[in-house]
Amino acid sequence: MFNTSFIEISRKAYRNNIRYLKKIIGNEVVFSSVIKGNAYGHGIENILPLAEESGIGHFSVFSANEALDAIKVMSPGSQLMIMGYLDDAEIEWAINHDIEFFVFDWGRLNKTIETAKMLRKKARMHIEVETGFNRTGFEYNRMGELVKYLKREHDHFVFQGLCTHYAGAESLSNYLRIKNQIAMFRKFNRFFVRHGLNPLLRHTACSAAALTYPGTIMDMVRFGIAQYGFWPSPETHMFRFRKDTRDANPLRRMLSWKSRVMVVKEVEAGSFIGYGSSFLANKKLRIAIIPVGYANGFSRALSNTGRVLIRGRRVPVIGTVTMNTMTVNVTDIPGVERGDEIVIIGKQKRMSISISSFCEMSEQLNYQLLTRLPANIPRFIVK
Ligand SMILES: Cc1ncc(COP(=O)(O)O)c(C=O)c1O
Repeated sequence: MFNTSFIEISRKAYRNNIRYLKKIIGNEVVFSSVIKGNAYGHGIENILPLAEESGIGHFSVFSANEALDAIKVMSPGSQLMIMGYLDDAEIEWAINHDIEFFVFDWGRLNKTIETAKMLRKKARMHIEVETGFNRTGFEYNRMGELVKYLKREHDHFVFQGLCTHYAGAESLSNYLRIKNQIAMFRKFNRFFVRHGLNPLLRHTACSAAALTYPGTIMDMVRFGIAQYGFWPSPETHMFRFRKDTRDANPLRRMLSWKSRVMVVKEVEAGSFIGYGSSFLANKKLRIAIIPVGYANGFSRALSNTGRVLIRGRRVPVIGTVTMNTMTVNVTDIPGVERGDEIVIIGKQKRMSISISSFCEMSEQLNYQLLTRLPANIPRFIVK
């Protein structure tokens, strides 16, 4: 009711993924569930409570607006960390709400300390260091100055974490760069410790790093894509495949996207289907119209190339995807009628369509496709 398509989130698949990932990092290491990008398209309001059910009590978002969404559904005992953007007013808000956040440059550091003093409340800072990703983080050449500053202002913050982010741990081609980053992080860590500054948590690993470079696991792991059942890359999967030989794929995808047939009709041979002339019926065809188009997250690039499932069979999208509809060819499937279930992503009987088969692409694009699933498609948790 009141939707043209919907997304199902599998609780069982999520629990399976968390069990598998926790086994890899062990019980002593904090599992931070990365729920930025609307929890990689799954919906913060769905994933956060599921994660808490699985014993996770730490969450990572990119910005204050995502933190607001998280707070609405987060239990009082859980902890939230902002890894990216914060404006000055949001720094005050974060300190007031005990939200942890990355501090990666002098501007933010000064503002944080100034605000903490004004509020008479300690800021929970994760100092991010630049190890070679070249995005955000303090440079090694100003460590002396930084350490002096932190020691002077020690009463105004909790040194919650020391962290960095890797520049593509999912790809073998970045092996040397990642190894150098790991060495660089250790050098930063030694510097802090030598000067009596001990972070509560050292954390560097995202999914790919934790899955393939065990030395990066440290005190906390920031798991994004893997908790949702996706391998960061085929290389990561192959690496684990060698190690975890009992199960070819221990991660389970948890998202299915479904709709229903809106109209079924016949078109004569020689007719064009939909806008323009991109698809010509070369014989009499039976077509079904599905109420999902590019406004709903089904890319127009899938015109004449996409596939969906109906009655357990895979059928091609024909003609151009419009703003609100797509057309599929159901000529060879007897009995298709209005109201039949359509699976756009997920399983139906013995067939399945994965996110990555949406178009010819590398697995890396899973990230993009997931986070582009419109937030207004209703999401339901199923068994
Ligand atoms: C700083 C940081 N940590 C962790 C992650 C999670 O990465 P992944 O989804 O590959 O596990 C991201 C995602 O891009 C990130 O930017």
